[in-house]
Amino acid sequence: MKDKVLEILKDQDDFISGEKLSDRFDMTRANIWKYINTLKEEGYLIESVPRRGYKLVSSPDILSKGEVLPLLKTKYMGRDLYYFKTLDSTNNKAKELEEDLKEGSIIISEEQTKGRGRMGRTWISPNEKGIYTSIFLEPKGSPGDIGPLTLMGAGAVSKALDSYGVKSSIKWPNDIIVNNKKVGGILTEMSSELNKINHIIMGIGLNVSLDKEDIDEDLRSKVTSLKLEGYDLVRKELLAKILEEFEVLYDEFKNTSSISKTIDIVDSRLLGRDTRVRLISGPRIEEGLLVGLSPRGELLVEVDKEGLRNISSGEISLELDGIYL
Ligand code: BTN
Repeated sequence: MKDKVLEILKDQDDFISGEKLSDRFDMTRANIWKYINTLKEEGYLIESVPRRGYKLVSSPDILSKGEVLPLLKTKYMGRDLYYFKTLDSTNNKAKELEEDLKEGSIIISEEQTKGRGRMGRTWISPNEKGIYTSIFLEPKGSPGDIGPLTLMGAGAVSKALDSYGVKSSIKWPNDIIVNNKKVGGILTEMSSELNKINHIIMGIGLNVSLDKEDIDEDLRSKVTSLKLEGYDLVRKELLAKILEEFEVLYDEFKNTSSISKTIDIVDSRLLGRDTRVRLISGPRIEEGLLVGLSPRGELLVEVDKEGLRNISSGEISLELDGIYL
């Protein structure tokens, strides 16, 4: 009901009286007042003037249904939206709700208390300072086909950042890099049988307005936020744009089995081409020269004493300005 009251306020250029609102929803004016107060607590600036009623002055940058859905330009991506103020991890919540979710459903939380990164790392997720979301996907195909999905997520984030004048690159396969530091990452998790994918949960984490103090001191040479790099972005708009870009890339994959749009994006912003990299796969570390990206999205590395190898999983580490990213 609170959302309905908000909708009316948003549709209205002028004041609307408490009486009109209570008639509209067939509830007491005291109840209307309660909803208005809840909205104010959420950060909505609502002017209330005796005998004139209520007027919405401004809306907060929160990622609720009421704020994100009106900005979406997608057909299905993100339209089924589950919003939480706090969660341990949006990927965990998506797993818990899997029975209720459908292709393109998203879980959003304003903060995560146990945000997860790749390789068992923690994802710092302070309240209302980032985008922490998980997209539920049901692609056809076998577990071996999902490698490019992570690239699609990274490509979509990087492309969305373009719209706001933020130049980013991609450290294969999933890191979004701005000014040689990480601002975002993708955590793709799969539930599958031997030859069949049940579903994919793609977690996207983006550091939007983290301050220096939010980032552990030992990580500050490698991790940053868009705000720390001088960009003041509106999270709800950025999220809507990411979903829009992601839908384009995912639809190509789903409808034609091609990933050429994804490859074009990632290839043109691949970090570390022609530089030496370390390949990390479990306890094994090898070195080589990063050559580029294959049409299937694998990383091409000229491995020392071996020759060209197509790498489809694992991580790389590369040196930039004396720092190993
Ligand atoms: C990485 O670069 O290590 C991947 C980071 C992924 C973080 C996101 S935030 C939303 C989703 N929920 C999680 O717990 N992790 C992912």
